[in-house]
Amino acid sequence: MFGPFLLLVLVQSSTAIISSHNDTEHFRMPPLFHLDGYEDCFDEPDALFCYGEFALVSDEPSEFLTAIQKYSASVKHYNHTLLRYGYCMKKTCNEFYNGSKSEVDLRLSFEACSNKTIYDKYMLKTRLTDELDCSKRDRDLPIDYLDIFVGGVCILIIVANIIGSLCDHYLDKKRDRGALKLLYGFSIKRNWKKFIAPAGKGQDPRIKALKGIHGIRAITISAVVIAHALYSTMILNVNPELIESFYDIKFFNMFMNGSLVMQTFFVTSAFLLVYNALIYAEKHTPSWSMLPYQIIMRWLRLTPSYALIIGLTVTWFKRITSGGPIWAKTIYYEARDCRQEWWKHLLYINNYVERTHCMAQTWYLAADTQLYIFALILFLICKTNLRRKIILSLVFVVGLIIPVLHTYYEGLTGIIIASPDMGVNMFFGDPTFHKILIRAHTNLPGCIIGMALGYIVYNWQKAGGDPQQLRKYRYIYYCTPIFGALVCFSGYIFFTDGPPLPTYVHMLYAGLQKPAFGLAVAIIIAGIIIQFEDVFRPILEWRPFTYIGRLSYSIYLIHIAFIRAGLASITYLQRNSMVKTMIDDTTILLGIYISSFFFCLMVEMPSANLVSTLFKRPQTKESIEESKKAENDNAIDMTETKTEDGTTVVKMGPTT
Ligand SMILES: *[C@@H]1O[C@H](CO)[C@@H](O)[C@H](O)[C@H]1NC(C)=O
Ligand SMILES: *[C@@H]1O[C@H](CO)[C@@H](O)[C@H](O)[C@H]1NC(C)=O
Ligand SMILES: *[C@@H]1O[C@H](CO)[C@@H](O)[C@H](O)[C@H]1NC(C)=O
Ligand SMILES: *[C@@H]1O[C@H](CO)[C@@H](O)[C@H](O)[C@H]1NC(C)=O
Repeated sequence: MFGPFLLLVLVQSSTAIISSHNDTEHFRMPPLFHLDGYEDCFDEPDALFCYGEFALVSDEPSEFLTAIQKYSASVKHYNHTLLRYGYCMKKTCNEFYNGSKSEVDLRLSFEACSNKTIYDKYMLKTRLTDELDCSKRDRDLPIDYLDIFVGGVCILIIVANIIGSLCDHYLDKKRDRGALKLLYGFSIKRNWKKFIAPAGKGQDPRIKALKGIHGIRAITISAVVIAHALYSTMILNVNPELIESFYDIKFFNMFMNGSLVMQTFFVTSAFLLVYNALIYAEKHTPSWSMLPYQIIMRWLRLTPSYALIIGLTVTWFKRITSGGPIWAKTIYYEARDCRQEWWKHLLYINNYVERTHCMAQTWYLAADTQLYIFALILFLICKTNLRRKIILSLVFVVGLIIPVLHTYYEGLTGIIIASPDMGVNMFFGDPTFHKILIRAHTNLPGCIIGMALGYIVYNWQKAGGDPQQLRKYRYIYYCTPIFGALVCFSGYIFFTDGPPLPTYVHMLYAGLQKPAFGLAVAIIIAGIIIQFEDVFRPILEWRPFTYIGRLSYSIYLIHIAFIRAGLASITYLQRNSMVKTMIDDTTILLGIYISSFFFCLMVEMPSANLVSTLFKRPQTKESIEESKKAENDNAIDMTETKTEDGTTVVKMGPTT
């Protein structure tokens, strides 16, 4: 209903902005992007297409260059002194290119060529700033042992899926023992049933109430995908001024501070951990032996799917789309770096590694794992209410201060400044991204808020709190998303022109923004768990959200590979428009839903089944009974946040 209307408003506002925009300066500046015909280039036998980034320089003082630098200084603008061009060496640069394939020679001929083209038109010279990526008609990517290994694993998985499904369909279900049981874990039919089963089945109404969490996850993960899909509009376009004009629309500044939504996952994770663990503690005594068990279970649950994606990134993804001038930038460097860094990912310490191209988005999995362990330790230490209050408050205050100190001593910005160039680079090399956004210790407040929420909601329910009494506050509750949006929106002050903001503003934002947003998330979660109103909860418990929520780990793992593949296959400059961006984004989102559905059904769920079959905790009599009950209920669902085989499986944000 609102869709077409919103579309109209956005299109109108964007055209209004563009026509009011003073284009004269753009007109004079050299274009940011340029590509020779990529396909045509390879008409000749040993043609070479080179893509490079170069800075504009001038041998003598140049007013024009100063003007460009001045224009580029604004965070709302691309750095127009940094151009990204692709030349067909045999055609455009024939004069300077003598067929030599050595890197030094290529750099020299490319630079001479860009020197000439830019000098002829703008009286400026150029200097290559980055690696030069040259491609021939066919890239030679020899198949090595790793490719064969990963390919073999993929084939094995597919075969296991087929055999598992066939066995499940044709064999006697009662012979559910031993190796067959492992194979049944791969049965697509079984996993499909689990996938479409309604959320929140089980005995305990408190566990049932968690189903709204799927909605929160689904919305957050979709927002993450949509935001990341915008990368593809940032680069290789003919009208960068459209992107720049978006920064002048205050409303859009809200989305430029969108990295805050990741707090949702931190809060949700910590909340689920504490809430489930408290329910578990009613029947069992939590002990320190829980710690290694839970950590190992979590590792086993997350790692197989993750490892497969890393393996594919290193090997086969780079072959899927091997054509396109920015292939190396978007796909190849990632594969190269992952070859070195993969083990840091599997140990979940990759968020403390700087300057690597390898799957930067998985920082969240690492940070969440580290915070999970931390929260679990806190949970085991804080046995009494008094201790909880003291320790959680202390840690919260420390968590508030840490980012402030980082910001002060390392000269960082208060929020991640998502300037157009950051989008082009996917935040690679941005100090605030590396030092604040992706670390675990800088995300402590979200974790503590989630934990506190778990204790508060649990104790409130245990004390017999009555949801009806809270009904009168529901209008305040409905304002919470607006509060969260305002927190995001307030970051617009970083996108205004004018004198640089004083350091204390940066420090204030670094400290307060995440907790403020986390608080909004916590209130929304509290509302759906307590079940005191009928607007948000039914929306969040909507069935399709449950499915997307179940896909969230798979979506998170594969979405960037999908977007990168799209970027790598671009061979000509695109013209952005509002409508095109929306259509592209929707297409990408749907494509990612579909592919992660298959990934989830064929890899994520089977590996979780495998882990739970192989590594069940030694069961007590009572827990066997419980698990039987659960089984009758068709409730062994790895993607659920509920107790299972008598042990609490404490699960996390998008990672269940
Ligand atoms: C655009 O800016 C230039 C100088 O920056 C100025 O001379 C010109 O009048 C402006 N045009 C409009 C339509 O505002
Ligand atoms: C723009 O790019 C040039 C060349 O890399 C760099 O020296 C300059 O600092 C950049 N300007 C801004 C405002 O980032
Ligand atoms: C090509 O030119 C470079 C200098 O630009 C020179 O060093 C190199 O030897 C030349 N190669 C051939 C094959 O002529
Ligand atoms: C291009 O121009 C710059 C600036 O004058 C100069 O330093 C550089 O050597 C030139 N490159 C080539 C390959 O001629």
